[in-house]
Amino acid sequence: MVKTFKYIILGGGVAAGYAAREFAKQGLKPGELAIISKEAVAPYERTVLSKSYLHPECIELILSTEIVKADLAAKSLTSAGGETFSYQILLIATGSTVIRLSDLGVQGADAKNIFYFREIDDADKLYEAIKAKKNGKAVVVGGEHIGMELSAMLRCNNLDVTMVYPEPWCMSRLFTSDIAAFNEGYYAKKGVNIMKRTVVVGFTANSDGEVKEVKLKDGRVLEADIVVVGDGIRPQTALFKGQVEEEKGGIKTDGFFKTSVPNVYAVGDVATFPVKLYNELRRVEYAEHACQSARKAVEAIKAAEEGKTVEEYDYLPVLYSHQFGHAWEFYGDNVGDTVLFGDSSPESSIPKFGSYWIKDGKVVGAFWQGRIEEERDAMAYVARVRPSVQNVDELAREGFSFARKI
Ligand code: FDA
Repeated sequence: MVKTFKYIILGGGVAAGYAAREFAKQGLKPGELAIISKEAVAPYERTVLSKSYLHPECIELILSTEIVKADLAAKSLTSAGGETFSYQILLIATGSTVIRLSDLGVQGADAKNIFYFREIDDADKLYEAIKAKKNGKAVVVGGEHIGMELSAMLRCNNLDVTMVYPEPWCMSRLFTSDIAAFNEGYYAKKGVNIMKRTVVVGFTANSDGEVKEVKLKDGRVLEADIVVVGDGIRPQTALFKGQVEEEKGGIKTDGFFKTSVPNVYAVGDVATFPVKLYNELRRVEYAEHACQSARKAVEAIKAAEEGKTVEEYDYLPVLYSHQFGHAWEFYGDNVGDTVLFGDSSPESSIPKFGSYWIKDGKVVGAFWQGRIEEERDAMAYVARVRPSVQNVDELAREGFSFARKI
């Protein structure tokens, strides 16, 4: 039997949750909307969105259901269990999947207690391992967002933590060497060991098949009870290959998240969309975008039904994190020259600093770190309006007050 819905959201992550909330806000009739997710729980945000936002009387939650075939021309989805779903409008929100070391051919990478981190189930498994390996040794592979956050979390759980990454400094895709120096210093102060400029080439396991050692390319061998890998993700677009236009590794959309196929929208990590501010197509893997793109797509869907129009998506990149009690946020574009200001010593009792990125004489990116949430709005604004800078030394002296006075 085919189950038919007016709207189907495929995926049960951040974008799916916000899209469902927007549908509910705009008005839904019972049974009009289904969310299909291979996860066993309702959409959740890794930070704020709770299940209580959803309206179960209007939304059918089809959980633990993996879609293995999508036929966009026939408007039909088929699950691994053989069920078929049809829709009038499809919102693709399938997000990303982790890159596994076993897929890269790393020897011994399928040993027990090697974890990846994407879904709630991954968090539950890691939590159990932390309890079982109390005060043990953890190795974190990767120095980007997930590696940084999980190293801090493992250290807070009293594990002996070593981070390994090939780059010259942490968060190298965003951080300047100055910002990284603060963070690496702060992690060291908290007891995290950092090994840079090397990669993991293999693992050994004990007689129970549990990871025991991590072998590095430079010949060093680390003992490990737990390994957490954060070596990147890839967008989940395989179901739609050959059926929809793609660009930059994602599904190409317009500024309303419409794809090249009528009545099919793509949001969140999978969408490659026009960034008005920079006049180029981009695909981003940020929570704020997942939420905003989902809202915009649903607004556009509902407006079109009523013969109305909405404003095109006007995205400002926002990235944030919080580790060891220190928040940081970044707005805009991290291109061009940089200037650091404020107190960025890891030894400081209250570090508070920031950085601007300057391109073609304009501030295009703004970063702050510390317990200073009051700077948030001014820093976001400066990255959006991109003011001119006459004197870089003066900008460094002014620091946050430059943004506040814009
Ligand atoms: P998301 O991955 O959230 O959801 C995809 C959903 O689709 C999942 O439920 C998946 O199971 C389902 N799915 C996929 N294929 C399917 C299929 N074939 N059938 C059925 N279901 C299917 N960002 C940021 O800006 N700041 C931050 O601090 C963090 N921190 C952070 C921590 C952790 C642990 C993670 C994993 C990620 C972050 N991020 C982040 C990134 C951010 O969470 C990410 O950009 C959003 O989750 C993307 O939302 P989506 O809805 O696009 O995908």
